Amino acid sequence: MALRTIRTEGDPVLYKKSRPVEEMTQRIRELIVDMLDTMYDAMGVGLAAPQVGILKRIVTIDVGDGPIVLINPEIVEASGEQTGDEGCLSVPGMSGQVTRPNHVKVKALDIHMQEVEYEGEELLARAFCHEIDHLDGKMYTDLVEGELHRVTYDDDEE
Ligand code: NI
Repeated sequence: MALRTIRTEGDPVLYKKSRPVEEMTQRIRELIVDMLDTMYDAMGVGLAAPQVGILKRIVTIDVGDGPIVLINPEIVEASGEQTGDEGCLSVPGMSGQVTRPNHVKVKALDIHMQEVEYEGEELLARAFCHEIDHLDGKMYTDLVEGELHRVTYDDDEE
């Protein structure tokens, strides 16, 4: 497996708009495998290609139910509202309160460039919104209500 370097806040690549994937190539297949490896290694629930320096509209997500790969994803339906803590592998160690839709339907292409649709609630809906924002150069830190705060793990105190 090949881990890619996760770009962090301030890196210009994170604020640019990504381009759609036109065709599946060996290079893109390798990128997707690397993105999944990088996401799992960093213990993240989602990763977008610009976070590893590639301005292509590709997202990987796993909220604990197995990997989801989205190519050229679009939100086609959003409803409800949830407010909760959100973090990002590009802003390590921090989190902040963000309001997102509670139910999101996404249309995308899979790794075979076939159309797929996913519906997500709660954490998955949040992940769809957060990762698709990355493809438009948007960071969740601009949406945080109140202050960003340092993530604390209960384990550290034991
Ligand atoms: Ni992120």
